[in-house]
Order: sequence, then C-alpha cells, then structure tokens
Amino acid sequence: MNTFSVYRPRRLRANENLRRLVRETTLTVADLIYPMFVVHGRNVATEISSMPGCYHYSVDNLVTAAKELASLGIPGTILFGIPAEKDALGSEAYADDGIIQQAVRAIKDAVPTLLVITDVCLCEYTEHGHCGIVEEGDVQNDRTVELLVKESLSHARAGADVIAPSDMMDGRVGAIRKALDGNGYSHIPIMAYSAKYASAFYGPFREAAESAPQFGDRRSYQMDAANAEEAIREVALDIEEGADILMVKPALAYLDVIYRVKTTFQVPVAAYNVSGEYAMIKAAAQNGWIDEQRVALEALTSIKRAGADMILTYFAKSFSVFREAFG
Ligand code: PBG
Repeated sequence: MNTFSVYRPRRLRANENLRRLVRETTLTVADLIYPMFVVHGRNVATEISSMPGCYHYSVDNLVTAAKELASLGIPGTILFGIPAEKDALGSEAYADDGIIQQAVRAIKDAVPTLLVITDVCLCEYTEHGHCGIVEEGDVQNDRTVELLVKESLSHARAGADVIAPSDMMDGRVGAIRKALDGNGYSHIPIMAYSAKYASAFYGPFREAAESAPQFGDRRSYQMDAANAEEAIREVALDIEEGADILMVKPALAYLDVIYRVKTTFQVPVAAYNVSGEYAMIKAAAQNGWIDEQRVALEALTSIKRAGADMILTYFAKSFSVFREAFG
C-alpha cells in the first residue's frame, strides 16, 4: 500500500530538462562583476600567490584583460589600485594621475561599454594600512569622509561609471552623494559596501592589495560578525543617504544577512564573494579534494538564491567559460 502523500517530489527531478524547467534560481554571466588589481609599470602581469588565476596588472595589461571581460559578456569590473608610494593621508587615492585614475581612463577609452566600478577606500594608500586618517590610535571618521569625497570626485573625473565606498565610515554615502550631485555627477550610482564585516576572509586580498593594517585591526569600523540586525540599520542609513546598490560582504558566511536585506528592502543587492572564499575553493581543488567548477557554481548559486542580484567574484571569468557545462 502506498503510504506516500499525493505529492512525490522526485517526479520533477527525473531528468535534466524537467529539472531545468522547475529550477528556481538561475545564475548567468550578467550577474557577475570581476575585481581586478592594478599596479604602476608596463607589461606587468604577476599572479597573486594566494589567489591563483588573479593578477597584478599594469594599465596596458589591464586594458587587455578588460577587453576579454567584455568579450565574455561580463557586465563590469571593480578596480583596486596599488600606489607607487603610501603616506599618512593616502594621497595617491585622490590624485588625478593616481593609478586608479589612469586605469579608469585607459579602460573607458578602449572598452567604453564595460562598466568600471571604483572601490573608494584609503587602506591601499596609507602607510599604516587603515581605511582612514589615524590619530590617537583610531581612524578619525569625519576627516576621513572628506578624503573619501575627494577620492570619489577624482574617480568620477576619470570616468568611473559607479562609485563603491568600502571604508565603513559613518555618513560617507551621504557626503559622496552630495559632492557628486554638486559637481555634475548626479547620474553616477553609488554601490555602498553597507554591511561589511570585520572578516578573516579578506586575508588573500590584503596580500593582493598590500593593505593589511600595520597595527590593530578594523573592528572599530567594520561590523561585528555576530550582528545581523545591525546590518539592517546600516543598509537603511545608506538607502536614506542615497545609495543605489547595497552590498553585503563577505557572502558565504553571511547568506542570512543577504536574505534579510533583500526581504526587508526591495532594492538592488550586491554580494561580495571575497578573496578568502575564492582561495579556499582554489586550494582544496588544487589538492584534488573537491571539484572546483561544481563547488564554485554551487557557492555562487547559493548567494543568488539568498537574494543577491549581483555578485562580485574572482570566479567571474572562469564561470563565464565553464557555465556551458552545467546547462
Ligand atoms: C578595502 C577593501 C577590502 C576588500 C574590498 N575592499 C579589504 C578590507 O577591508 O580589508 C576585500 C575584498 C576581498 O577580500 O576579496 N577596504
């Protein structure tokens, strides 16, 4: 006798075409943003040891990489710069001939349709590696915001399509919005790193961007990993201050936060699948312990399923190549 209920879930799992028809979440190249690191010099393409497949590019090679992204159908890149010199005020971050400003001009010139998003922060540019002006042992919020505004304006002058503040200072989204609007850039969207956690998953990035803090940590400005309600308050503030896209970062250990943000506010949500999440998959795959492509696809799909509209990921390029294998 049949003791099952009328609904037999396995009926719709019988073959791949049935599975495709009832699949709830689809991940496409159009959802992805590829982060790139730019350095001074010519003809530089140095692989970052803790992020296999990711490189430090000089501007000339960055342009070649940007062309490849466009040809793969990836909508955009987010750029991180490594300056020639670091100082107490992170001057190269807002210099009109700084590395990012040069990179943006070169990409927009060669591949105008590729979206160029610029990460706005000071940690790569300061000699102490903190995300702002340090005095009395801590980052000074309001004076740092003034520098972030200068940095955002210089990115806009260089031709950036989207400004992405990642510093976690209070009030910076409103200040940047006001400055962009007041200087003829009211059309430029802000992608705010709104719920950015003080995370050990940024380890490989700090090698890549040479931005590890020389003393202390970032816990006085980035969020405590234990907090989710606070993420809602952070996002609410950034929406009020004029952010267009709200980001949760990292992604995989914070899927509940992505879900809460998306269900609380019906706004475009970005998730950053960060360097440590990438490095763990790469390392395990290199050891032959997991199948890299299937694990990457599963991880990225979970981020989309949780509610992200777009994903910043170092897998963007390889995904666009291997996705065909998964239908
Ligand atoms: C800059 C910044 C960081 C990342 C993006 N922007 C590092 C940090 O806050 O320490 C991390 C990205 C990654 O790990 O992939 N503040």
